[in-house]
Amino acid sequence: MRYGADLSFSLYQPTRVVFGDGVSSELAIECKRLGVERAVIVTDAFLREKTDVVARAEKALGGRLAGVFEGVIPDTGVEVIDAGAAFARAQGADGLISVGGGSAIDTAKGMAIVLTEGGSIRDHQGSMRLQRRQTPHLAVPTTAGTGSEVTSYIVVKDQARHEKMHFMEERVIPDAALLDPSVTLGLPPRLTAATGADALTHAIEAYTALNSNPITDAQALGAIRLIGESLARAVAHGDDKAARGQMLIAANLAGMAFNAAGVGLVHAMAHVIGARHNVHHGTANAICLPHVMRWNNDELSARYREVALALGVDVRGLGDEAAGLAAADRVAKLLAEVGLPSHLREVGVPESDLAACAEGSLSDGAIVFNGKFAADQELVLGVYQNAY
Ligand SMILES: NC(=O)c1ccc[n+]([C@@H]2O[C@H](COP(=O)([O-])OP(=O)(O)OC[C@H]3O[C@@H](n4cnc5c(N)ncnc54)[C@H](O)[C@@H]3O)[C@@H](O)[C@H]2O)c1
Ligand SMILES: [Fe+2]
Repeated sequence: MRYGADLSFSLYQPTRVVFGDGVSSELAIECKRLGVERAVIVTDAFLREKTDVVARAEKALGGRLAGVFEGVIPDTGVEVIDAGAAFARAQGADGLISVGGGSAIDTAKGMAIVLTEGGSIRDHQGSMRLQRRQTPHLAVPTTAGTGSEVTSYIVVKDQARHEKMHFMEERVIPDAALLDPSVTLGLPPRLTAATGADALTHAIEAYTALNSNPITDAQALGAIRLIGESLARAVAHGDDKAARGQMLIAANLAGMAFNAAGVGLVHAMAHVIGARHNVHHGTANAICLPHVMRWNNDELSARYREVALALGVDVRGLGDEAAGLAAADRVAKLLAEVGLPSHLREVGVPESDLAACAEGSLSDGAIVFNGKFAADQELVLGVYQNAY
């Protein structure tokens, strides 16, 4: 890949990333580093009751534990974030520890804003509005997918309006991410596959997004390679710590990549499907990804050729267009192999709703970063129909 003489970009990545089997036991050390004396854990009831990951975090915090907020729901919501912030305030919290997937991490990001700025999370929607340092936040991701532990994004479901609210704030990027393969061992195969598909989508979309640069390209291709090597293993053998660890690193790399480069049409389509039809984010991405790649291929095939190579596809002798389609085919095959659905009709999306979905995706911020111009309702509807 060659870059022009007019290349310019800036990157901001403040998260301390600590990786290793068992590193979640180092929470107290990281709190001390950040001056956090009274930490509230942000998690969901399932993880607290059915797994040992929350108990381990509580133990690791010792005297710095101020309380546990277990009200996180999938995709989080305005009420959850406001209630979590009220709980943390009542405990006198000076720091937040998210233990969970993207929903827990995003909840803690929202809570950090409400704790620092006051009001409701609804009052703060927007981009780059925060002027002050926010409440410290350490993330312990228990899925290998969203990369939210290193991003400035928050996705919040607005139940009343069947929409997802989006926030983009550098000041909510977590201060530390503890990547501990042992806390992901219990993630069931279907969720391992779906969250891994989210990470793969971040990497492929970041690699072809308008704001991509040489650093995000390296991160994205590195993530794609790791996912190609490890996703199927992590799904088939949930206790394979090496595969789990590689997936956590891949999700983290992909998060850093899309945080700077942006995502694209797959995310715009998936956000709408998630908000209107309660389809898990990673699953919605998995369905849309190969179709968007095929649709993008006439303009992005040179880049998809690199994606194919990162996934180990032999593209020797193929022109870019054929190599790009081979990348889409390889992605579709990988996602099918790990048991993910490949059609929207399989996840309860009615065909009659596709036009409304297409309209909704046009107002999603991700669409403008798609490497090929996509903000056209008829064109997007065509891709939804292909994915149906
Ligand atoms: N902020 C960002 O940068 C960003 C990026 C992508 C996605 N997101 C958001 O993240 C959310 C999706 O996050 P997710 O895919 O990680 O899923 P999730 O956080 O919604 O979790 C899904 C389910 O998995 C369970 N779970 C999590 N870890 C587990 C474990 N180790 N063992 C057993 N069960 C476990 C949870 O209890 C939950 O029921 C969506 O709301 C999406 O919009 C945010
Ligand atoms: Fe995503």
